[in-house]
Amino acid sequence: MPKGRPPVEIDERLVVSLARIGCTWNDRMKVKIPSLESVLHPSQREVYRSLARFSILEIGRRWGKTTFGIQLGIENAILARKCGWFAPSYKYLANPVRSFERALKPLILRHDRVEKRMEFRTGGELDFWSLEDSDAGRGRDYDLLVVDEAGFVPNLLEWWRNAARATLADRRGRALFLGTPKGTGDFHRLYLEAEGDTSGQWRAFRIGSSQNPHLPADEIEAARAALPPEVFAQEFEGVPAEDGGNPFGLDAIRSCLAPMSSAPPECWGVDLAKSQDFTVAAALDAEGRVCRLERWQSPWNVTRERLARMIGDKPAQIDSTGVGDPIVEDLRKVCRRVEGFKFTSQSKQQLMEGLQIAISTAEIRFPDGWLRSELEAFGFRYSGRTVSYEATVGHDDGVCALALAVLARRARRPLLVKVI
Ligand SMILES: Nc1ncnc2c1ncn2[C@@H]1O[C@H](COP(=O)(O)OP(=O)(O)O)[C@@H](O)[C@H]1O
Ligand SMILES: [Mg+2]
Repeated sequence: MPKGRPPVEIDERLVVSLARIGCTWNDRMKVKIPSLESVLHPSQREVYRSLARFSILEIGRRWGKTTFGIQLGIENAILARKCGWFAPSYKYLANPVRSFERALKPLILRHDRVEKRMEFRTGGELDFWSLEDSDAGRGRDYDLLVVDEAGFVPNLLEWWRNAARATLADRRGRALFLGTPKGTGDFHRLYLEAEGDTSGQWRAFRIGSSQNPHLPADEIEAARAALPPEVFAQEFEGVPAEDGGNPFGLDAIRSCLAPMSSAPPECWGVDLAKSQDFTVAAALDAEGRVCRLERWQSPWNVTRERLARMIGDKPAQIDSTGVGDPIVEDLRKVCRRVEGFKFTSQSKQQLMEGLQIAISTAEIRFPDGWLRSELEAFGFRYSGRTVSYEATVGHDDGVCALALAVLARRARRPLLVKVI
């Protein structure tokens, strides 16, 4: 690897483009960024001034963590440094990629969307990684590594020690872990390690969302009123909740675990595959125990046949959103107790609330494994003033199928009792 940074030439176009993003050249041909501190709000500015080489920001939602990380990434790109941006899954990368694109447009030399990499006229580089791959970043060299939503990364410590730390060795790079805690998992452990550090290399920050002056105070108050206190403390003050603020409750999930039942199905819930994910079918037996749990990918006609065979004349709730509609209509011709369920953000919340009740009252039982992991990865989400349940990482199709099966169980027509 060639040492040193590529020489930065004064290019009239670059001077103009830098001016457009609020930067000017000084007479030593180095980039001055007078705007960075003025872009940050006071609490962000304070953090910026006290960053250590490795900094952990365990902070409430909407304080401006992602915005802060992006500003540091922009600074690095302009200063010809290499930066790696990491997030728990691809869905968390889309917005930052767009923000960097917008802010640095005049400076982008190449943007490889497949490799998820931007190269800048300054010589700076920016790579985007999803941490679904536990080797993300391995073998690269970075001046700055940013992990966004670090609370949602399941094996954060292992990844940091085995893959990430070495990327910062050659360039004596820095790391910034941004996140809201989700229980006392790896992110919080890293926070505690940073807090107890005596080497001066680490620094831990905990700040409440209310320190963002751009966030309306009544929005925070609305969330305080809507959430259990320990969940509010986690989500808005950065203090981890014992059970991770999971809407189903980790203990409640655990107490519903039981081996797969071998009894016959009494009702079904089916989440049909969207563009890339899986179709999941879950059945409950007469006691409310999961007795079938299947997950597959196949062409529609195969899926339809398979479902028809499985469901027979049992009650079933099937996702009929979008492409699901004709399938449900077709199935109804052979399975007379099939009903379509249209997912909207509102109907999904009601469905999840039904599942939450079934889990908290131990009305149902399910086996340990991927379904449990999906349930455990759920968290609360706020947009505006509404609180909803949502998968933080990975899929939620198993959870949806289970919730639909619970709905089908509740909607069962009473059995006809023969009076002799
Ligand atoms: N320095 C800032 N100046 C203006 N608005 C900001 C600033 N920092 C954050 N915001 C705004 O606050 C909101 C939350 O910011 P975001 O970075 O998404 O928070 P987080 O990642 O902590 O949830 C966004 O609407 C964002 O535009
Ligand atoms: Mg964010």
